[in-house]
Order: sequence, then C-alpha cells, then structure tokens
Amino acid sequence: MPINWFPGHMNSTRQAIKDRVKAGLDVVIELLDARLPGSSSNPLLAALTTGRPSLKVLNKQDLADPAQTEAWLAHYNAQPHTRAIPLDAGDKAPSRALIKACRELAPLRGDMHKPLRVMICGIPNVGKSTLINTLVGKRAAKTGDEPGITKLEQKFVLENGFYLFDTPGMLWPRIAIAESGYHLAASGAIGRNAFDEEEVALELIATLKRRYAPRLQERYGLTELGADDAVLEAIGVKRGAKIRGGAVQMHKAAEALLMDFRGGHLGRITLETPEEMAAWRQTAADAEALKAEQAQAARLADKERRSGRRQAASGDA
Ligand code: G4P
Repeated sequence: MPINWFPGHMNSTRQAIKDRVKAGLDVVIELLDARLPGSSSNPLLAALTTGRPSLKVLNKQDLADPAQTEAWLAHYNAQPHTRAIPLDAGDKAPSRALIKACRELAPLRGDMHKPLRVMICGIPNVGKSTLINTLVGKRAAKTGDEPGITKLEQKFVLENGFYLFDTPGMLWPRIAIAESGYHLAASGAIGRNAFDEEEVALELIATLKRRYAPRLQERYGLTELGADDAVLEAIGVKRGAKIRGGAVQMHKAAEALLMDFRGGHLGRITLETPEEMAAWRQTAADAEALKAEQAQAARLADKERRSGRRQAASGDA
C-alpha cells in the first residue's frame, strides 16, 4: 500500500536513540499496539539499540483479543533478553509491573551508584504520553540535562536508581510489509492524509471476515457477508453514508468502519498472529532479495552492453 508521509522527527529521533546508547542504556521498552504487535514494532530499533535487553509492552490490551495477546506475550517471552507484559490506560499503577520486568532484564543495575537506565520508544498514537503521565504523575520532567544529549530526550526518575528516558514517537521511512502498512493505518498510527481510507477499510473487512465475521455482522446488522466492497457498501447504507440519488459514499463508509475499529466498537480485535507476521516478514525479505538480484543483473547487463559498444566502436575505427 503506498503511504505518503514524511516521518517528521525520524532522523533526529534516530540520533537521540544513538546518543542515549552512547551515554548509557540498560533496557529498551518498546510500546506496541496489542492489536498489531508485530506491525507496530520498529524494525530498526534492535540495530539502533545494539541488542540491549528489551521489554515489549503490549499496550491498549483492552482493545485487543485476549487469546491473541496471550499468544504474542508467549512469542516475545520465548525470545532471548526479552520480556513482554500487557498494559492499558485503565491500569492505575503500571509502574510496578514495568519496573519489575526491567529489573529482571538488567539485574546488576538499579542502585544509586549504578542506576537502571531505561528508554521508552513507540510509534505515534500507541499511548506513550498517556502511560508516561500515569507513571510520572506530577513529577517534573527534566529535559536533556546531560552533555551531548539532545533536547528531544526527556528524563524521569521513577524511583531511586530508576531513570526513564522518553523519545518522540517514531515511524520508519519505508514499511516493507504491505499488511503492516494496512494495520498501522487502521490503528490510527499514520496521519489520515497519508493513505487511502477506502483501501485500508477493504483490507480491514477482509481480515475481520476471516477472523471476526460475527462481530462485523452484529455491529452492522448484516445477515450475510458478501464481497469486501459489498460489505463496505452495506456498512455505508447502515451508517447513512448515501448521497441524494442513492449511491453510497464509500469514503464515508470507510471512515465509519475505521472509527468503529479504533474505538473498540467492534469488540476486542487483534489483526495479526505471530505466525502470520513471520510469514509476511519472509515474503517481504524474499521480495527484497529478488529486487536486489534483478537490479544487480540489470547493472551487469548494462555494463556488458556498454563494453560491447565500446569494442564495436574500437573495431570500426
Ligand atoms: P502517543 O503519545 O503514543 O502518541 O499516544 P497518546 O498517549 O496520546 O494516546 C493516543 C490515544 O490512545 C488517545 O486517545 C488515548 O486516550 C488512547 N489510549 C492510550 N492508551 C490507551 C489504552 O491503553 N487503551 C485505550 N483504549 N486507549 C488508549 P485520543 O482519542 O487520541 O485522545 P483522548 O480523546 O483520549 O484525549
């Protein structure tokens, strides 16, 4: 899916992360959207943080399918130097679970002499500000008070010997996995002008039909589910997205569906499984490898053509 956005702070955020690694970093918290854990995970983060232990927080779990959240937690908890916990804004004291998991990941740090330095990252709209407000309460934020540390970074002391560094929300420049693009757009992580809402809604319908068909039928009073565009049209009819003359405004229907999904009005839904994500990643990697191979072959062919022309020219002379 073509997504047209300029990932605003990306370069400066990337630099802020690199600076933090240089200044000292023990654990990376990656805030994921529990409805799309794989797609909301930054593929560049592990390289940027040079393999520091990682805490995956599956946030907005109140909107996600509980069975799928369990599956994703097991998936991440089976990975080395990784812990995963579920969370949502309804949790009034999230710091206990968060601090405990970080301490387990870096057991040798966390006193006054060796503070535990934790960085929190996440895509836009994943709920990072909400979480930090709950964690920090009225404690004042300090901004970039270490030499060489950018003003983009904020430091919070959650308890003695536990420092939390916040970075701005970041999306990566190119989303190689098509499904991830759709899921990120459906979740609200990408600005609405950067993608085609109708296309995203049709993809969402395809996923919902596969996995949560009764919810779709129930929400919009549909006795049967036909082709994806017929379903979108039927949603438009139910939501009064008709223009005079009777035609359905498909973009209005798409907007209504996306708003319902984002607001949890279709029930608790997860768009992807760990297995699906692994398969999509493989397909994207294969496609990248094929593209690189084809580009290399084209370069070689071009070189041979040019050298053939040169030889022919010197033969003519
Ligand atoms: P960000 O800093 O990562 O960009 O996200 P932010 O905290 O601003 O949250 C984005 C939206 O997600 C907000 O809704 C927020 O209320 C909502 N949110 C955050 N955490 C959770 C959660 O655990 N569960 C649910 N269901 N929603 C969550 P909004 O409509 O954009 O703003 P508002 O109307 O709440 O102010």
